[in-house]
Amino acid sequence: MNPNAKWITSPRDAGAAAYTFKKSFRPEKPVRAATLYATAIGVYVPYINGKKVGRGVLAPGWTSYRHRVQYQTYDVTDWVQGKIELSFGLGQGWAVGYIGYADTNHFFADRTALWVCLDVTYADGTTERVTTDENWDVYTSAVTSSEIYHGETVDLTAPIELVGKAVERMVETAVVEQMGEWITEHERLAPVEIIHTPAGETVIDFGQNMTGYVEVRVKGERGDRIVLHHAEVLDREGNFYTENYRAARNENVFVLSGGEDVFKPLYCFQGFRYVKLVEYPFEAVDPDCFRAVAVHSELKRTGRFVCGNEKINQLYHNIVWGQKGNYLDVPTDCPQRDERLGWTGDTQVFCRTAAINYDVEKFFQKWLGDVALEQTREGAVYGIVPHCLGKGNLTRISTAWGDVACIAPWQMYLAYGNREELRKNLPMMKKWVDYMHGAGPEEFLWLDGVHYGDWLAMDGNVEETRGATSNDLIASAFFAYSTSLLIRAGEILDEDMTAYKKLYEKVVAAFRTYFMKDGMPLEYYPLTGNEKNANADPYRCGLTQTALVLILHFGLCTEDERAALAEKLAEMIRANGNRMTTGFVGTPYLLHALSDNGYTDLAYTLLLQEKSPSWLYSVMHGGTTMWEHWNSLKEDGTFWSKSMNSFNHYAYGAVFDWIFGVAVGISPMAQEPAYKRVQIAPHPSKTLGFANASIDSRQGNIRVHWYYKGDTVYYEIELPEGVTADLTLPSGHSETLVGGSYCFAEYGVDL
Ligand code: BGC
Repeated sequence: MNPNAKWITSPRDAGAAAYTFKKSFRPEKPVRAATLYATAIGVYVPYINGKKVGRGVLAPGWTSYRHRVQYQTYDVTDWVQGKIELSFGLGQGWAVGYIGYADTNHFFADRTALWVCLDVTYADGTTERVTTDENWDVYTSAVTSSEIYHGETVDLTAPIELVGKAVERMVETAVVEQMGEWITEHERLAPVEIIHTPAGETVIDFGQNMTGYVEVRVKGERGDRIVLHHAEVLDREGNFYTENYRAARNENVFVLSGGEDVFKPLYCFQGFRYVKLVEYPFEAVDPDCFRAVAVHSELKRTGRFVCGNEKINQLYHNIVWGQKGNYLDVPTDCPQRDERLGWTGDTQVFCRTAAINYDVEKFFQKWLGDVALEQTREGAVYGIVPHCLGKGNLTRISTAWGDVACIAPWQMYLAYGNREELRKNLPMMKKWVDYMHGAGPEEFLWLDGVHYGDWLAMDGNVEETRGATSNDLIASAFFAYSTSLLIRAGEILDEDMTAYKKLYEKVVAAFRTYFMKDGMPLEYYPLTGNEKNANADPYRCGLTQTALVLILHFGLCTEDERAALAEKLAEMIRANGNRMTTGFVGTPYLLHALSDNGYTDLAYTLLLQEKSPSWLYSVMHGGTTMWEHWNSLKEDGTFWSKSMNSFNHYAYGAVFDWIFGVAVGISPMAQEPAYKRVQIAPHPSKTLGFANASIDSRQGNIRVHWYYKGDTVYYEIELPEGVTADLTLPSGHSETLVGGSYCFAEYGVDL
């Protein structure tokens, strides 16, 4: 492989169209091995003799292109046994088209570019290499336009013309070996219903909100058009609804050749459940012509869960599909509107759950590598990685978003136990903590920052995206928390953490002095007078559910203070009709804060709550993925808003780490990570009847199953060889288990 192969581009600007780059090659002698390496600024599809090579789609994936782009490797030995034609379709993808809101075009580059290297080893040991250069021919293609946000036009009647010889292109980025997973096609869903809406639209329902595209197989008249629009939901009247896509058009146009055609976009994807046939040349709609193809990173499924409550099972289904749809090479907020970005806050919230459901080790190695590359010299981590906002826009340097720099490496270490990876991430963790240390007017607090806050919590002004909890309090709490994770990571790596330990003590002490009185958070804080931005902390509330959750879960209180804090939290939840008010910041830890402090029953009550805000509200209202807001679809059938209302936003799906780790009771332990030593502490509840969960850990399959028969609860536990479990049952019985199968029974346990 030659990392210095030339980058080439078309002699004529392709605009939004995809062009094809071609080169013929005839091996001189019998071929022993042939390997193809390829990447692009844009998205490429490799073909040999007209047949697509490899199982990947949307290659080369999305990295921080300013720093690096990954090349893919294909074993093409079987393909290169005579004369071949190499050809590459090349579309705009993330690097060239609109990305990072609909007003940012060409963020990384204004032209697509291709980089290819074919290495051939002959039977006699000699070698030959073909690389991209000015001898490649460039042709137009049937893809006359493609945008990640707006969709693709494939016109099989468009003339294919030679544009000319390729020209060399300067591309200043590192070409690196693929480190993430392949992006591949997965489930193929058939339509479940053809709907004729009150507005007279013909709509196909695939029954599942998802990410990917619709494949259409048809035979019609040459020049006939099929135009598809996509949507996640229907509106109150049952009509097709796309306002929540904002500026993203999500329009695929297929122009028929007159023969047997198979269409699907090659350079973009959509987030959808419904498809509207805006133009369709046939009288009847044959469901067999349509398949919705799920597209995401090729991750091995590791976690499984089922219980006796169908609504919770549906919730878990929705969580898993939220992950599928948003783990498309980069962990994104949503897959459909003009965003689909690597929001760091959403990622840190969900990463622990993600690592239960799927093996995400490689996926995170790649993305965290980009987080480190994009971290500023001062240690700041912005809201989106890869950064892609144009016009000099940067996202906020926000607490609970930037903390991904400490939280995600730590969670990956717990799940996979990779010390080297932790060591690689340690400088990033340190820099983030150092950044917070210097961020505000007070050394040991983070005051006066401009944050996203307890995003989408329900206790702020209803129209606002921010909850009531003081941003200063959240920021200072996360300052302490991330420092504590850094210390744990450093100690595992035998680093001297004395200075950070001192820092941690000071941060916790400052937090307690500034935000708490008599073991309780203050109700309101006075303005400091230093605010550079009046919007920094509009509410200044300390006594909120989220504040209590953070204090309890991050250990910012003394042991003596816990009972009163937990009691206060329980009281606030009860006073709110057994419902939470928490947003992105408080929700992930809410049930833990309750069950760790004697309120497991209330945690279950919240889990099973069906009125908004609750996890089951979206399930009760037909959700098949997680929603961005607790009430994305309101009780009266109207929408939260049209400007920010995704029906595939996984953040609140983080509740699964409580279901798996506490209700079923399996959690990894830092002393011996990767589930080599595991804590098994089930919290059974008759409301679920039974719960059965397992994880294919690095050590093998670990399974816990509890079920009730009358008033007796039985526990079945299976551990692979080499795993040690610290078992604690609700009765207080505890014992250490080693590889094997176990069964326990307890009488009269319920919460
Ligand atoms: C995204 C979020 C993200 C947020 C920043 C939104 O537009 O969809 O999920 O974290 O902006 O607060």
